[in-house]
Amino acid sequence: MESSLSGSVENEKVWKELQTEWTLREGVIYLNHGSFGPPPRRVQKARDDWSHQLDSQPMDFFWRKFEPALLEARSQLAKFVGTTAPNLVCVDNATYGMNVVAQSSQLSAEDEVLLTDHEYGAVRRVWERSCRRAGAPPPKVATLPFPVDSQEQVIESIFSQVTDRTRLLIVSHITSPTAMTLPVATICQRARKIGLATCIDGPHAVAQLPLDIDSLDCDFYTASCHKWLSAPFGSGFLYVHPRQHAAIEPVVLSWGRLGDMPRKSWVDDFNWIGSRDPSPFLAIPAAIQFLQEVGCEAFRARTHYLATYARERLVELSGQQPTLPAGPEWYGSMTHVPLKTKDPLALQTALWEQHGIEVPIFGFEGRNFIRVSCHLYNDREQIDRLVVALGKLLS
Ligand SMILES: Cc1ncc(COP(=O)(O)O)c(C=O)c1O
Repeated sequence: MESSLSGSVENEKVWKELQTEWTLREGVIYLNHGSFGPPPRRVQKARDDWSHQLDSQPMDFFWRKFEPALLEARSQLAKFVGTTAPNLVCVDNATYGMNVVAQSSQLSAEDEVLLTDHEYGAVRRVWERSCRRAGAPPPKVATLPFPVDSQEQVIESIFSQVTDRTRLLIVSHITSPTAMTLPVATICQRARKIGLATCIDGPHAVAQLPLDIDSLDCDFYTASCHKWLSAPFGSGFLYVHPRQHAAIEPVVLSWGRLGDMPRKSWVDDFNWIGSRDPSPFLAIPAAIQFLQEVGCEAFRARTHYLATYARERLVELSGQQPTLPAGPEWYGSMTHVPLKTKDPLALQTALWEQHGIEVPIFGFEGRNFIRVSCHLYNDREQIDRLVVALGKLLS
């Protein structure tokens, strides 16, 4: 497939065929893969096949097939994100992984946790609770420059908030409210030099960016595979650096492994967390295979092209300047543009109800923005229709 697709990112015809791989409802223009990314048909089928195996002989599935299949899924996923299976467990989503890190963190009342004002709201809640329980001050929030001009500004705004009480730094790889790629490699390197542990919140980065987690040298990396990788809903991972393995505890304690199989390492506690259908995890290899057949670089180039097209058209419509500089080092498959509207939720609802367009419009730091996600089932015509619909609703 790579050969025909690598031809031209701008050639709509070349990409048309791929759109039928998704089962989105007829007539819906879905521009919110960044919140909830649906899996293509063959990934759905892989998940359903595993589910069927479970339903048709549960004992055979759980006792004999599950552990080797999970190890295979973990191994393939680990390779895809640049680490190895002993450092990575499958969890439901990035939120779950973040909770494991927070509940394993053993903060003391003197400790500080640092995050940025572009972190996902639920991540802030997780750390607020952990700090509260430890009797520590609430997480300290570094204000990122916004609009932003340089990565150095971003890095300085974070490290200027580090004190000798800072125990852990939490940063997104790609931010949720602003779709900005943060320079996490430099951030982790600098944190390492001063002995500060790092946790990267990376659900948007899997597939949007080439990942080499081992080389980041972060302490923790949490992600959801049901975003840009288009794996089934309920599939994510937690990476833990070997220097932190001994500190990690599961948030849900069960057998860890079935039967009388010994527990040999931290990952074993995450194999069995009670009876459940693990099919989403086991279908991750199908999602990786799908993306690799398209070509990871072709995927990134096409979706960045669409995101850039959306950005340019929306800037033209709104007359507002974008908040990030241009270029793939700043944003990948999502774009984020200011919109002048008094009621963002009413505008989002009207786009859906009157035009069948699903796209998030929300406030951030006193202004309103639209965040457009572009995946392989999107095209230029859909973005044109979004712009026309917005033009009508905003006039
Ligand atoms: C940056 C970021 N972190 C964490 C999450 C939580 O992802 P999930 O709901 O898959 O756990 C999101 C969801 O959009 C996000 O954007």
